[in-house]
Amino acid sequence: MTSWIKENCVSFFQLFCIKVVKTGRVPQHIAFIMDGNRRFAKKHKHAETVVGHHKGFDKLSETLKWCLDLGIPEVTVYAFSIENFKRQEDEVNGIMDLARDKFQRLLNEIDSINEWGVKIHVAGRLSLLPEDVQQLISKVMLATRYNNKMQLNIAYAYTGRDEISRAASCLIDGVQNNELPADAIDEDMISQTLDIGEPELLIRTSGEVRLSDFMLWQVSHTVLYFSDVLWPEFTIWNLLGAIIHFQRHAPPSQPIKDNTEVQQEFLDKLERRRWKDLESIVGC
Ligand code: FPP
Repeated sequence: MTSWIKENCVSFFQLFCIKVVKTGRVPQHIAFIMDGNRRFAKKHKHAETVVGHHKGFDKLSETLKWCLDLGIPEVTVYAFSIENFKRQEDEVNGIMDLARDKFQRLLNEIDSINEWGVKIHVAGRLSLLPEDVQQLISKVMLATRYNNKMQLNIAYAYTGRDEISRAASCLIDGVQNNELPADAIDEDMISQTLDIGEPELLIRTSGEVRLSDFMLWQVSHTVLYFSDVLWPEFTIWNLLGAIIHFQRHAPPSQPIKDNTEVQQEFLDKLERRRWKDLESIVGC
């Protein structure tokens, strides 16, 4: 069974190439639309499509190791869209079982994840998930909360439009509860109320060139990279190619604007509330 971070998957020559690529600008946040798992299962004549998702997870664990070696501090993956609930029951159940299995495994291996310093953040409308999956996810987020080498955002029961509408409700609640004046709401406040920050590079595999409702607000300045390979067949060479593409097309970094005191106070309160919600799901 594959762990979350695959060890010993980088050869000496690959490490050398990583070092060469690192002499240029490396994206500080990469997002992946891991597409093509079912086509992979079909291509390799597996009767069950969920085999493709298992292979997809294995590829994720390799990719995380490559990103750690590249020194990338934030990675986001689109693992399950709200739209995916409409797939056949067998497949949805298979993906939920995969999540149960992998999140439980992560808790069993928590010392190793903490050694790697990976903070896991699951982004999405968690209330749509089975209760035991919600509990596992909450435990994982709480257990990795203080890690700071890499943040892994897993978009699960997620769509970009749903994320934006949840952020809007949050801000409206803030105004109605007199925690935030209406004129304190600006683009930066909306960005900071969303689940996930802005990626510098977005990679989609399998030849599709759509965003499929992923991080719609956040990609306004993101470099996009589309690759024809199916996600389970993605290699370190595809990743390095995407980073070289980024180095050729990246816009200059944007300066970060400071929040006002009232904005910062609201955001801190929101953050504390989100952690409390997770603690109450776990029951502590
Ligand atoms: C898209 O390919 C992929 C998904 C809907 C699921 C991706 C999930 C994983 C890689 C596992 C992640 C698991 C955890 C616990 C983080 P597709 O099914 O749409 O394939 P197709 O485009 O060939 O139809």
